[in-house]
Amino acid sequence: MASVWSSSVKRTSDGAISVGGVDVRELAAEHGTPLYVVDEADMRARAAAFRDHFAAAFGRKGAEVDVYYASKAFLCSQVARWMREEDLCVDVASLGELEIALRGGVAPQHIGLHGNNKSDAELRRALEVGVGRIIVDSFTEIEVLEALAAELSVVAPVMVRVTTGVHAGGHEYIATSHEDQKFGLSLASGAAYEALVACHDAANLNLLGIHTHIGSQILSLAAFQESAERMLGLRGAFTADTGAELPEVDLGGGYAIAYTETGEALETRDAAYGIADAVEAAVAKVGGTWPRFSIEPGRAIAGPAGMTLYTVGVVKQVQLEDGGGRQYVAVDGGMSDNMRTITYQAEYTATVASRLSDAESALSRVVGKHCESGDVVVRDVQLPHDVARGDLLAVPATGAYGRSMANNYNAALRPAVVSVRDGQSTVLIRRDTLDDLLRWDVAAE
Ligand code: LLP
Repeated sequence: MASVWSSSVKRTSDGAISVGGVDVRELAAEHGTPLYVVDEADMRARAAAFRDHFAAAFGRKGAEVDVYYASKAFLCSQVARWMREEDLCVDVASLGELEIALRGGVAPQHIGLHGNNKSDAELRRALEVGVGRIIVDSFTEIEVLEALAAELSVVAPVMVRVTTGVHAGGHEYIATSHEDQKFGLSLASGAAYEALVACHDAANLNLLGIHTHIGSQILSLAAFQESAERMLGLRGAFTADTGAELPEVDLGGGYAIAYTETGEALETRDAAYGIADAVEAAVAKVGGTWPRFSIEPGRAIAGPAGMTLYTVGVVKQVQLEDGGGRQYVAVDGGMSDNMRTITYQAEYTATVASRLSDAESALSRVVGKHCESGDVVVRDVQLPHDVARGDLLAVPATGAYGRSMANNYNAALRPAVVSVRDGQSTVLIRRDTLDDLLRWDVAAE
């Protein structure tokens, strides 16, 4: 099947889809729907591709690259374990993500902590377990961290998050390096430089280097290249003034994936060599040695490896003003398991997964079961006219920011996540139960 599906997805001889060697009808029968399905081999292969292509591209100059999996895309202890086994580090952005990564056995020194407003508890825990890096995002944080590190008699390894002014990515909500937003310290205003000096001068901070993340779902290699150049320019300026060479530069995540058959992806190999070339040119211009690099892909590792399985309920034919029609296909989930369509007008595709149909196709909209007309999973897709209650529908590329942004709207029970591999399925996260919901409600009788 087309590349929007994970690599093991096939149509079986009787027309159903299988993934990781498991028939989706079996998955639905055993685990229920909605269900997130992660193709383990596919996700690991994507992690390994980042590791190997970046190592090869930067290795031409003797430089090393650490790949940090951006765990906000999707995290549970087993995924943390897979990343560790693939020699990736893990980036976390909350106490919760930190604890899950630790429970997955990730060594603290291979964890980076992010956040624009980290709490004392988060910083304290990070210092106590000894994370490898804390990416500081404000002058307040530099002060708080310096005081906490002194109190704990430790030296905190830090990087400064830099807003380079390179604005890239899909929706406005996920572009992060323009000036008018909450993340980072500005390169243009001099705040980033000042923060570097403050960290450099702080007795209990060890300044490792600089970090930037320019946005998400970025197709433009030129944006990554521009950002790398600006970062190396800043590093060069710091060395020129202070004589100190920052050992590390992190270029963040944001590599685009395809969500529909016509969508484009930024190929990992092209990104690796393209960015390495830009770095080479920038180092030649600025002078000095090559730093150690790191990158933080999330979506491009987890996204294409996952799909969501739904069961179709009500199907309605609606007459449009232009005389055409639209088939509304309601499934047993919606904006509680996929927030991306309503939040970013994200595009997805879908297919009937439990059988083949030779009925004519119809312009269709896959909607959820929530009390909100914006509760759309797939805005426009061709589905057969005979799609009916009980059919399974599969939506590809939901592995990133699907379960991690799931919620309990309408007291929905968040779906389980299962991994599949070699004909076996394994529950990674179990489905919420009504008992869970009622347990959180402490006054329930
Ligand atoms: N590094 C940092 C510091 C980040 O903030 C992010 C994403 C990443 C890496 C990973 O970016 P990725 O490679 O996954 O694009 N909920 C949105 C995406 C928000 C991304 C936030 N930060 C979505 O569903 O598209």
